[in-house]
Amino acid sequence: MTAEDTSPDVQLTDDHRLRHFLSIDGLNRPLLEEILDTAASFVEVGDRSIKKVPLLRGKTVVNLFFEPSTRTRTTFELAAQRLSADVLNIDIARSATSKGESLMDMLWNLEAMASDMFVVRHSDSGAPYFIASQVTPNVAVINAGDGRHAHPTQAMLDMYTIRHYKGGFENLRVAIVGDILHSRVARSQIHALRILGASEIRVIGPRTLLPVDIEGLGVQVYTDLEQGLRDADVVIALRLQKERMDSALLPSESEFFRLYGLDEHRLRVCHPDAIVMHPGPINRGVEIAPEVADGERSVILHQVTFGIAVRMAVMSMCISGQEGGGVL
Ligand code: CP
Repeated sequence: MTAEDTSPDVQLTDDHRLRHFLSIDGLNRPLLEEILDTAASFVEVGDRSIKKVPLLRGKTVVNLFFEPSTRTRTTFELAAQRLSADVLNIDIARSATSKGESLMDMLWNLEAMASDMFVVRHSDSGAPYFIASQVTPNVAVINAGDGRHAHPTQAMLDMYTIRHYKGGFENLRVAIVGDILHSRVARSQIHALRILGASEIRVIGPRTLLPVDIEGLGVQVYTDLEQGLRDADVVIALRLQKERMDSALLPSESEFFRLYGLDEHRLRVCHPDAIVMHPGPINRGVEIAPEVADGERSVILHQVTFGIAVRMAVMSMCISGQEGGGVL
């Protein structure tokens, strides 16, 4: 299965509402802004003593994570709980797939339990699309990261964070630094930033970690960190995805940090009010220095907090789209 198998239209209803949430690519600005605005209405739920709203009461959400995750899985679980849904976390390693059961047999069994939503992370690009093409019409599928292809809820929580700190996307220079080649996050961020009207999107990294066709996504490419960071308003660091590297693309991690690691000295060329973001997990001393990760420019942990509200927004909008607008 490849990302080329995917078709953005499958995620929309005939009246252009979210039915599944699989990719940013193919969505329009009003829909992305609706996700951000809906998330804004959910942020205060996290500050209440009873952190619940009844929007998904009686609904069953199933987390299917075929790859490791800390932030995405737990914030999806919290988001579903705060919407009052019942949540099942399938332990893939202990599931009957380890006895030879196919993915589709597993899903049909979960559908037989009247599941309403599958949240899917998978190492194969396109896996959530395949599942969305197979499920019954009343089940929504949310992509929680597929291979190198897309991580749309991560991109939306990043957009929420940028809008929160910068007020919008116009006149904004955003620099994405590191392993762009293997990053589903970078691809989704670039699509979202373009749709939302960011004035300049830069990618910075060694040639070996930049996709050959990356300029086609409408970004400016830099192999020199200092040039790429100059006057940037937002700096997004990415992890080296060693688990996706099938050959030696770098001399060493220490050499990568020497050339591309974010430290206070290198950030001096950014805009004085620049924020530093990272989707996590962070590797201190590889792509980011500890004093930057923990410093006053860093909004990394705020990204995680906003992620709950953004995932609440996406889940409630998908269920609403499934039900013809009846839930919200
Ligand atoms: N950002 C992100 O996807 O983190 P996890 O792998 O911990 O979910």
